[in-house]
This record gives sequence, C-alpha cells and structure tokens, in this order.
Amino acid sequence: MSNTVVVGTQWGDEGKGKVVDLLTAKADMVVRFQGGNNAGHTLVVGGKQFILHIIPSGILYEGKKCLIGNGVVVDPEVLLQEIQDLKMVGKEVTPERLSLSDKAHIIMPYHKAIDLAREAAKGRHKIGTTGRGIGPCYEDKVARTGVRAVDLTEPETLEEKIGTNLKEKNFFLTKFLDAEPLELKPILDRYLGMAERLVPFITDVSLELDQGIKANKNILFEGAQGTHLDVDHGTYPFVTSSNPVAGGACAGAGIGPNQLHHVVGIVKAYTTRVGAGPFVTELVDETGDYIQERGQEFGATTGRRRRCGWLDLVVVQDSVRLNGLDSLAITKLDVLTGLERLKICVGYEFDGERVTTRPASQRKLARCTPVYMEIPGWQEDISQARRLDQLPPQTLAYLETIEEITGVSVSIISVGAGREDTILVQDPF
Ligand code: IMP
Repeated sequence: MSNTVVVGTQWGDEGKGKVVDLLTAKADMVVRFQGGNNAGHTLVVGGKQFILHIIPSGILYEGKKCLIGNGVVVDPEVLLQEIQDLKMVGKEVTPERLSLSDKAHIIMPYHKAIDLAREAAKGRHKIGTTGRGIGPCYEDKVARTGVRAVDLTEPETLEEKIGTNLKEKNFFLTKFLDAEPLELKPILDRYLGMAERLVPFITDVSLELDQGIKANKNILFEGAQGTHLDVDHGTYPFVTSSNPVAGGACAGAGIGPNQLHHVVGIVKAYTTRVGAGPFVTELVDETGDYIQERGQEFGATTGRRRRCGWLDLVVVQDSVRLNGLDSLAITKLDVLTGLERLKICVGYEFDGERVTTRPASQRKLARCTPVYMEIPGWQEDISQARRLDQLPPQTLAYLETIEEITGVSVSIISVGAGREDTILVQDPF
C-alpha cells in the first residue's frame, strides 16, 4: 500500500488534472480534500476533453472509488450536473463509485450572492474570485453556522439552519452590499429536492478511507488550486479560502499524517496566475502572449485569460518546504518550444538585497524584482518524446536546473495534453 498526494506548487492551473489522471491508474481510491467548484481539472482522454470541477477525475476510470472529503465545499447543483454530464457520456456515477463526506460543507445561494456582491463592491481592490461562493461558505464553516452534507439528510435541521442564516445574510446583502435579499422557501424546496438525489452518496469518508488503508488500498489525494493560493501560506489576501498544501489532505479527508507516503508537486514549466495579486515574473510583452496562446491559458472554471510569466523557483522552493515534496511533475514543457532564450527566476531583489523566499507582505512582494538565470531554449517539437533521451540537450538542461535548485527530482514530465504525452521518469506509487 502506498498513498500519494498531488499538489500544485504555484497558483493553481499547473495541470494537476492530467497527472492525477495518470496516477489514478495505480490507485484504488481517489480523494478530493479541499476547495470546491472553483477548481476545474481539464483532462483529455482518447482525444475527448473533460472538465471536472468537483468529482475526482478518477471517475473516468472503471472500478476506482472517488471520495469528496470533509474539507471540500460542495455546490450540490454543480455536483448533480456533473453526475448527469458523466451519465451522458456513458459513465454511471453510483454510490459504489462516489462518496460525499457527511461533514463536507454545502455552498448555499447566499454564499454565491455574497461572493459576487462583495467583489463588485470592492471594485479595483477585488480578489478576482471565481464567484462560486467558496470563501463565504468556508467563512460559515469557521463561524460554525455552515450547512453540512449531513444536514441534507435531516429536513428539519436544514430548514432551521437556512432560516437562521438568512436573517443575517439578508441583512448583510441588503444593508451593506446593496444586493437583493433571498427567500427561505424557494431555497429550501430546491435543496430538499437535490438532497433526495444526493443522500445515497453521503457517508463517513474518513471511516471509508480507514477501511481502505486496512485493506492495503492505494489512495491518491487530489489537491486543487496551488500552494501559493493557500489561505495560510499563499499570497494573502489574494488566495483561496482553503489549504491546498499537502498537510490539508489529513484534515480535509480525515486521515493521519503517517498515511501520506509520497507528495508530488506539480510545476508548470512557466508560471500563470488568474485573479489579482503580485506576480514577480509576470510577462506583459509578446513572450507572455506567446506562452499564453501556446499554453491555451484560459481558466477552466471562469474562462478568464491567465496572466503568464517565467518559471519562478522562489515560489517552487517555498512549495518544496511547505509540502515536503518528494518529487516534481513538470507540466506543459512543450509550450516553451520555439523560444530563443529561457529565463528562470532564482531569487528576488528588494531594495538592493537578495530575497530567497516569498515575503509575507504584499507591498514588499510587489516591489520585489526577479533575479534571472538565462539558458538557451529549444526549437525541436518535443511532444512526441516518451523517454528522457528523446529530449533535446537544452530541454534536459532546463529540467536539470529545476532539480538542482529545488533539490527535488523530477518523476513525471508532461509534453502534451493527452494521457500518452508523458515521460514517466519514476513512478511515485
Ligand atoms: P475563490 O477560490 O473563488 O475564492 O478565488 C480566490 C482566488 O483563487 C482567485 O484569485 C481565483 O482566481 C483563485 N483560484 C481559485 N481556484 C482556482 C483554481 O482552481 N486555479 C487557479 N486559481 C484559482
């Protein structure tokens, strides 16, 4: 038995979906432990594209158990839609295939309304959230007023909770955010209707995982977003509201730290960011456009154009420490093909001083400038490479530089969107 965690080392969108999909082949159970439908994992299987926002991508394989842990916030409408969409392509999602933690928090219409109205009120100071109600749902979780999946099994509790919450939410929406109030009855009816379809999936995920561990199953923990969007360790306040770091897998799934055996950090070969916040290696020139176009850097959830920049190893090195990374998966390496010279950020400068870790202060970070090392690029098409020795020497040098500076070896290299466009250097399981 071996359990692996996959985490993003940058600001999300590193291509975790594809790596998770690959590793799922060896896993028996696949678990989401944080975030919600702010994530969007794009997978290309047999030339067909799937975007999953909440159900672990392991669902596309036969016989793998997928679990949504207590650390996830769930929009029942989105979950049911995904179940329906999968059915349309012949993937029947039954409770044998999917479990939803009874302790997972449920995204309510007032969470989405507050998310959107608050961002609108902030104007140019907005965070650039996905508008899915993620932050407000986690706020209620911590405030101990949240609706949990288990409440969907108890209509009376559900009515009581929504009723109590609406008093406060409507006051906030109308008096502070200048938004419309919401009514109890339509929300309750809608959620009770959805509850009927969701109840069969609701169970104790921690217990189920424990049974899996005792039965020597391989478990894959699928992180969403990325380390620098972590509410504790990221570029606060331009972060999401959960803990995408590997440690989040324990609290967000209900397992002990001794059950995590290998942590894979996904490193996109360059850096991207959606939403606001400082971005030291951002490219606002034609190289940035080149990467953006070749990498098709549009958000899988919101369709927003992603900001692009050179690979920032200050960010990745922080992620090595924060997650205890055992190996790296380098993704979208093929996107860099055709660039004459490549830059890798190996440090920052702030007021003439060298900085080797990302400062906590956003003001300070905004004033950091990148210290680059430059290496030659490659012109050859690398998308057909399936072994390291099929890569040009410049590509190998790029990878070796990453390994040397981070001190972590590369286990997987992705050279294209398809499952097969991969070089497996070392199997993390
Ligand atoms: P929220 O998670 O919707 O509250 O958004 C907070 C910040 O996290 C915004 O900058 C979002 O763009 C960013 N974010 C949330 N989910 C993802 C993701 O899956 N990939 C990349 N950025 C994300």
